[in-house]
Amino acid sequence: MTWVTVDKVAQYEDQNVELRGWIANRRSSGKIRFLHLRDGHGVIQCVVMANQVSPEAFELSDRVPYESSVIVRGTVKKEPRSPLGYEISANEVRLIAEAADYPISKKDHGVGFLMDNRHLWIRSSKQNALLKLRSVVTNAARSFFDELGFVSVEAPVLTPTACEGTTSLFEVAYFDRSAYLTQSGQLYGEAAAMALGQICVYGPTFRAEKSKTRRHLTEFWMIEPEMAFWELPETIDLAEKMICRIVEAALEKCSTQLKTLERDTASLEKAVPPFPRITYSRAVEILKEKGVEFNWGDDFGADEEAVLSQSFDKPVFVTHYPADIKAFYMKREPQNPKLALAVDLLAPEGYGEIIGGGQREDSLEMLEHRIAEHGLPREPLEWYLDLRRYGSVPHAGFGLGIERAVTWIAGIHHVRETIAFPRLMDRLYP
Ligand code: 4AD
Ligand code: MG
Repeated sequence: MTWVTVDKVAQYEDQNVELRGWIANRRSSGKIRFLHLRDGHGVIQCVVMANQVSPEAFELSDRVPYESSVIVRGTVKKEPRSPLGYEISANEVRLIAEAADYPISKKDHGVGFLMDNRHLWIRSSKQNALLKLRSVVTNAARSFFDELGFVSVEAPVLTPTACEGTTSLFEVAYFDRSAYLTQSGQLYGEAAAMALGQICVYGPTFRAEKSKTRRHLTEFWMIEPEMAFWELPETIDLAEKMICRIVEAALEKCSTQLKTLERDTASLEKAVPPFPRITYSRAVEILKEKGVEFNWGDDFGADEEAVLSQSFDKPVFVTHYPADIKAFYMKREPQNPKLALAVDLLAPEGYGEIIGGGQREDSLEMLEHRIAEHGLPREPLEWYLDLRRYGSVPHAGFGLGIERAVTWIAGIHHVRETIAFPRLMDRLYP
């Protein structure tokens, strides 16, 4: 007997197959029992009739608790009324393990309860769709860089110093001294770019953010390309191409998942090049035109980014931020050193920043100066300064936050549902 997954049943019309999964739902009607079998690839209705299965199988179908694991054998039948287009006419139902009372029911549960049961909650259809979408998004981004010939490099998770400011560092005991969980692979990515040309770091990053917002995780994943001899404009073009590729992949490979998530895909289809490119100063003007009180020089918060991102129907690049609100490694605009050659990409529909990046300071002297200015300890950054001592070149890169990108593409409210086991300020379990 062929074991098939639910997504492939169409290839087996009128054939006898075996399905292995869990009971997602169950109902009865006279001499018929309907089992909804979920196998991670989809959900299919199995029709169990008293005269086609053993009495034991029929009795089992009548009482099998939700989330029990089963093996069902039967014939694949076309069924236009089913969302899948097919159902199984069962001739065998075998119990693998009977489930205890399943804590998650069809009724509305609070988010806290669902998060406490995240290890089970990921079995439900929306969460399942989100995890698949995330996988498609991540793979699309990684293959995009791979196909361009970027070398994939891993950055360490345990690091001696800050990359994105000292206020959000996780300190861990490292034998007789301290280490910090990486905030970004960028600095190591720069070293790798000097060795390999164009590289891409993909990995987990950590921020001890004391903010309980819908866009902050304490552990999140970033994809960070870094390119030797590249400057800001071509880096922005690259980010644009990458985003288009990701969105295309999501639309192409996740139509079922986007439907499950009730995502209005029309707005995603608008994400085609060119994306608008505006400066920070222009962004401030837009805020003022919209009646938002804002002082030039301040950083955009979620509210400002929401207003800006609602002003365009595509993702928008914002460049040339005041250097004071950006990280120490940012190169300054030669014409106006108050500005950094920085770029953020704001996703539309109010989602805000999903990418941060820019051109890096390539002068040893300037970089030494910035490290001092930012009050960063110099000694753990000596290796980084070496990159400017031994053949420094203009270079640039960016980081895409996977969870923020998936939140936008899925059209959901909170970033926590885009990762299997989110880490938030108040959540370390399960
Ligand atoms: O803007 P950020 O801080 O930039 C960097 O870390 C650079 N070193 C990247 C680079 O140039 N290689 O972070 C980059 C992105 C943000 O745009 C956002 O998408 C995501 O990482 N991000 C977070 N996502 C979830 N929770 C948080 N607390 C995040 N902080 C940043
Ligand atoms: Mg940023």
